[in-house]
Amino acid sequence: MKIINSIVAMQALAIAPEREGRRIALVPTMGFLHEGHASLLRHGRSLGDVLVLSIFVNPIQFGQNEDLDRYPRDVERDCRIAEACGVDIVFMPTAAEVYPPGFQTGVSVRNLSLPLCGASRPGHFEGVATVVAKLFNIVRPDVALFGTKDYQQLAVIRRMTGDLNMPVEIIGMPIVREADGVAMSSRNAYLSPFERQSATCLMRALIHAREMFAAGERSVAILLNETRAVIEKEASAVIDYIEFREGSTLQELEVADDSTLLALAVKIGKTRLIDNTVLGEEL
Ligand code: PAJ
Repeated sequence: MKIINSIVAMQALAIAPEREGRRIALVPTMGFLHEGHASLLRHGRSLGDVLVLSIFVNPIQFGQNEDLDRYPRDVERDCRIAEACGVDIVFMPTAAEVYPPGFQTGVSVRNLSLPLCGASRPGHFEGVATVVAKLFNIVRPDVALFGTKDYQQLAVIRRMTGDLNMPVEIIGMPIVREADGVAMSSRNAYLSPFERQSATCLMRALIHAREMFAAGERSVAILLNETRAVIEKEASAVIDYIEFREGSTLQELEVADDSTLLALAVKIGKTRLIDNTVLGEEL
């Protein structure tokens, strides 16, 4: 497994497979890998001849008062996991390398970036789209894998690659959960044991809404009240948003169907967690 820090070296490494018709699969991450990331890597291994993992805590997707400085990092452990998943190249640039002085270009996926996490985190999706566009130009993947855990992020990236005719196939992968149903996240590391227990309310709320939907409830107003009530029972939980949206355009709706997205963002103590489900798909 090669570890590459420089952009020029990474671009040079991508040329040979491209010429020889070997497929490059890319899994972009911010590191502190868990089983969710590993599932992307393992599937990426089966799709590409060359598997590239990028680890980059992207400063421009964090807001002023967010957790950029305390975002968890453990590069040695990440490399062990990467090796076990069959990664060929770990691309790990510094922020100075990615954003040199004078950098001023941004990729904005306008409408999809506005609601949900975009409303709570202004500028976040421009930061994500910009770094992912850069990673695509540096690694030149044929296929790139993303988790549906970050549903809106995946929608933004799909739209960007379509709108800008980027020659890369985007694969969305199911949410990997802990034994008690909590979605795996690098940010779970911030939770105290008590908070970790409280974090199960996100999953419980999703299950409750799914059960009501399965029993025939289609009114978004009613589903919303029911979902909110589950979270509000949890003393340490503060709702950022609970929203039912059309699954591909993310537009608001009043009547739910199989393709409806239920997306949650909830603060447990100081930690903001997100989770989601599409009502007609498996959890
Ligand atoms: P990060 O949060 O490290 O996540 C990297 C990838 O892993 C994303 O595609 C995310 O959706 C996926 N992922 C995270 N938790 C998951 C889970 N429990 N199950 C399945 N997949 C999961 O998302 C980012 O980094 C960044 O925004 C990035 C795309 C790298 C751009 O900086």
